[in-house]
Amino acid sequence: MRVFQLIYTSQPSEAFKQDFRAGLASILGSCRRHNAKSQITGALLFDEHHFIQLLEGDRQSVNEISSRIARDGRHRNTVIVSAEECEARSFPAWAMAFIDISQTPSPLLPHDIAGEASPASASSQSLKAFITTEIAKARRLEITGAKAA
Ligand SMILES: Cc1cc2nc3c(=O)[nH]c(=O)nc-3n(C[C@H](O)[C@H](O)[C@H](O)COP(=O)(O)O)c2cc1C
Repeated sequence: MRVFQLIYTSQPSEAFKQDFRAGLASILGSCRRHNAKSQITGALLFDEHHFIQLLEGDRQSVNEISSRIARDGRHRNTVIVSAEECEARSFPAWAMAFIDISQTPSPLLPHDIAGEASPASASSQSLKAFITTEIAKARRLEITGAKAA
């Protein structure tokens, strides 16, 4: 079966930033409750200023979950970077991998004139490459026993 894959970026709301640890714990709780049931896999990357999320599964499930996420007041300025059908999942093992990218300066992401990373203006290829690299790093950290973020 072909897989539908969606990548978007957004920005946490001011309220979310005030207590982002609690906010992230709540979002990851929702992921655990819903994603496995709907056979959604993917990754959620976060720094203080951005979310980057890749969701993959059948088209209807991805559409349902992404419309719910888009209505969530904990983030804003949602920009869809890519939405496409693929032959296979990129992250079959992850109901939702969570990666803290706050310490990750990346040459793969464009930067705005103030030097801030600007994932919303990245191409879908470079954003996907960035997510894949970050997941691979997190895996390596797990294998060596260090704490992944
Ligand atoms: C950046 C972001 C990413 C989210 N990702 C998911 C997700 O992958 N799966 C999910 O079920 N909810 C996700 N949510 C939460 C949903 O918007 C929504 O609050 C939740 O699915 C509602 O279900 P619940 O009442 O069982 O928690 C996300 C929210 C935000 C702000």
